[in-house]
Amino acid sequence: MARLPQRPAWKALEAHALEMREARIADLFAQDPARAQEFSVAACGLLFDYSKNPLSRQTLRLLVALAEDASLPAQIAAMFEGKRINVTEKRAVLHTALRNRSGRPVLLDGKDVMPDVRAVLSRLRDFSERVRGGIARGYTGRPFADVVNIGIGGSDLGPLMACSALRAYCSPHLRAHFVSNVDGAHLAATLSDLDAETTLFVVSSKTFTTQETLTNGRSAREWLLTRLHPSGTAEAAVQQHFAAVSTNLEATSQFGIAPERVFGFWDWVGGRYSLWSAIGLPIALAIGFDRFDELLAGAYEMDEHFRTAPVERNMPAIAALTGLWHINFLGHPTHAVLPYAQDLAHFPAYLQQLDMESNGKRVDRSGTAVEYATGPVIWGAPGTNGQHAFFQHLHQGTQITPADFIVAAIGTDRMPEHHTILLANCIAQSEALLRGKSADEVRGELRARGIEGDDAERLVAHRTFPGNHPSNTIVLRQLDPRSLGALVALYEHKVFAQGAVWNINSFDQWGVELGKQLANSVLEDLRAGKARSGHDASTARLIDYVLANKEDK
Ligand code: F6P
Repeated sequence: MARLPQRPAWKALEAHALEMREARIADLFAQDPARAQEFSVAACGLLFDYSKNPLSRQTLRLLVALAEDASLPAQIAAMFEGKRINVTEKRAVLHTALRNRSGRPVLLDGKDVMPDVRAVLSRLRDFSERVRGGIARGYTGRPFADVVNIGIGGSDLGPLMACSALRAYCSPHLRAHFVSNVDGAHLAATLSDLDAETTLFVVSSKTFTTQETLTNGRSAREWLLTRLHPSGTAEAAVQQHFAAVSTNLEATSQFGIAPERVFGFWDWVGGRYSLWSAIGLPIALAIGFDRFDELLAGAYEMDEHFRTAPVERNMPAIAALTGLWHINFLGHPTHAVLPYAQDLAHFPAYLQQLDMESNGKRVDRSGTAVEYATGPVIWGAPGTNGQHAFFQHLHQGTQITPADFIVAAIGTDRMPEHHTILLANCIAQSEALLRGKSADEVRGELRARGIEGDDAERLVAHRTFPGNHPSNTIVLRQLDPRSLGALVALYEHKVFAQGAVWNINSFDQWGVELGKQLANSVLEDLRAGKARSGHDASTARLIDYVLANKEDK
């Protein structure tokens, strides 16, 4: 089969992009009164409005044709059916099984994975309820008041994001903390306020070999033992204060974690897709298992929508295709995520791993270098704060950054007026990006303030907004477990659908390995007290420089 850029579906979009490059989104609205309705999808409690993008019905037809040419529906089916689509690791990709509530079996090599999934969920329910109910207690008999999750990447970002997003549902009696960075400042700052007698640690690591997590886990263990003075009964203290989530049960037992406190998952759950598995234990502890179950239910609804809706009405597929339009045909390499919800402050960082670790790839599934751009740079911060920081660049910078605005119609706080102001800002920003402000409008405004002539002309260019900047708006009814589940699954499937069209493997992450290897080699040098041969001159000098300046040299 011809390579992607040589295929008629791709070439048709390239030709169409030349026509659309000059299109004004405002004109598209003027020409089509049904546009706002037509270019939006409502499903699973979410509204996805993509009408403020420079695309027409013809653009959409061509994008859908591209998806069909790439066999997107068949690729979706292959994922849900447990085919080994992670070709470089020969693994299936079945995070959807973790939230499957259809009653249908999910077969992997002919064996239904659902009994194992249900068994772990039932153990998570039991353990989280025992901790929350004060039945499972610490070594000295006091109930747990704080849970510290120790993990990094997918073993941190998902639970951290969800606990923060669902702050309104979190128990005030069991506070969740997250330690990820190997910088000791992170663990030290977290532990400084905690009482060892009432602290439960969850060491989360799919592999249980991750340097940062094991280093933090060992230091947390030491902190606990020093404080509890277990006089020869160290094992009992560790067993009561530590739980682990991992696929590597041998390593968790070596760490000293009691088998009944170890919650497993499987190699068919990618790290960045794992918050639905036992990796979600801190979420279940913080919001209660029933709420955790609602999170899974929201994701399942989106799974069913993604699996069954036709491409042109399929929310994740449309999100993927509008993204492709920007990246591959209009040349916009970055994408901003702007949640208008302080509780979603960790959402952009979560999406960075989900999208950039999945689709930051330079070869296709066969290992051939791709001749087109793949995953965008994802960045963002909550509104309204971003408005007072980087929105200047969005409105008047020289690059165009497509953006996703995310907002809930109903606020979770008891300050309704704040939420109305938040909503107004969110809606107004996408309007401003679209509409812009012409030189004549600026002149009129200046005239109304008594500024005319040269004084006015000096300011006109500075105060003009080009507008025509694209955005999507995602509206949740309320930020609750169910809608969060649907929102996260929307982005998971968007990332999958983009990878499917680009013909890349979205489920491996070899690009993180080289840095890990070299860190081990530099670590040996730092411990040995000198840079050995094999480094470039800059690296060798940096090693020597930090050694010369280290305080404990
Ligand atoms: O370094 C990247 C990575 O492998 C991620 O894919 C993963 O989420 C993270 O590290 C943590 O890995 P683990 O859960 O095995 O500790």
